[in-house]
Amino acid sequence: MISWVGVLQVKMERSNYFSRVASRWHSTASARLLSCSAILLALTLFVLFRMSLYNGADQYLTRVTPIPQAFKPDHVWETRVRQSCLPKKSEGLIVLVTGAAGFVGTHVSLALKKRGDGVLGIDNFNSYYEVSLKRARQELLEKQEIFIIEDDINNKELLKVLFDLIQFTHLMHLAAQAGVRYAMQNPGSYVHSNIAGFVTLLEACKDANPQPAIVWASSSSVYGLNSKVWMQCACFKYVSV
Ligand SMILES: NC(=O)c1ccc[n+]([C@@H]2O[C@H](COP(=O)([O-])OP(=O)(O)OC[C@H]3O[C@@H](n4cnc5c(N)ncnc54)[C@H](O)[C@@H]3O)[C@@H](O)[C@H]2O)c1
Repeated sequence: MISWVGVLQVKMERSNYFSRVASRWHSTASARLLSCSAILLALTLFVLFRMSLYNGADQYLTRVTPIPQAFKPDHVWETRVRQSCLPKKSEGLIVLVTGAAGFVGTHVSLALKKRGDGVLGIDNFNSYYEVSLKRARQELLEKQEIFIIEDDINNKELLKVLFDLIQFTHLMHLAAQAGVRYAMQNPGSYVHSNIAGFVTLLEACKDANPQPAIVWASSSSVYGLNSKVWMQCACFKYVSV
């Protein structure tokens, strides 16, 4: 009898012990599982977040032409600039045409040159559409002795050098990120060219002596119904054509 009680007691103690170990193991395992899931979730969210950041930056960096930092003109470059700016007639204008390899810029440059004005172009040859088309236009302009500087209108150093070198009478500003739907894909390119680039040009013209008159084709991307222009400047005339 005594021995049966003893055996039962031992059995009961053993079963208590096993259930305690099992429940401790169970709670530790669930805690581990929970913390592992939390870490995994955090990692997944972190990776997704980094990927979205990377895609945004990558898109911006590859589609927007980087701004050249240092600009050092050499003698050949200076000579080409001077020759291109030389008017063929005494009262001819000296015009800096931005976006000269573009659709409107090419035709304007050719028309000015034909009229006897001195014309210098600037274009960054971005790949918004076929670059080969812009190169063909460049060739066409070169045949008429119009030099296009391959650079960005945001390059302050270049503009300073140009306005020190040449007394431009006019700036014909046609460099722009055209189009409307592309803004959904690459909004940074509009800010870069149509806003930052334009402000950089205005600053360069403000500092130039003499200040050139500015003719600006309103970007089709910023059409509005304003009858008044948002800024006033002696050299700024607003004409609707
Ligand atoms: N083509 C039209 O029918 C039309 C109609 C209304 C308004 N516009 C406006 O006239 C202007 C010129 O239009 P387009 O049709 O000739 O466009 P385009 O794209 O053919 O020409 C613009 C040129 O500017 C250059 N460019 C862009 N950003 C530059 C930058 N940051 N630095 C230097 N060069 C840069 C491009 O490489 C391109 O060659 C735009 O403002 C456009 O919105 C055009």
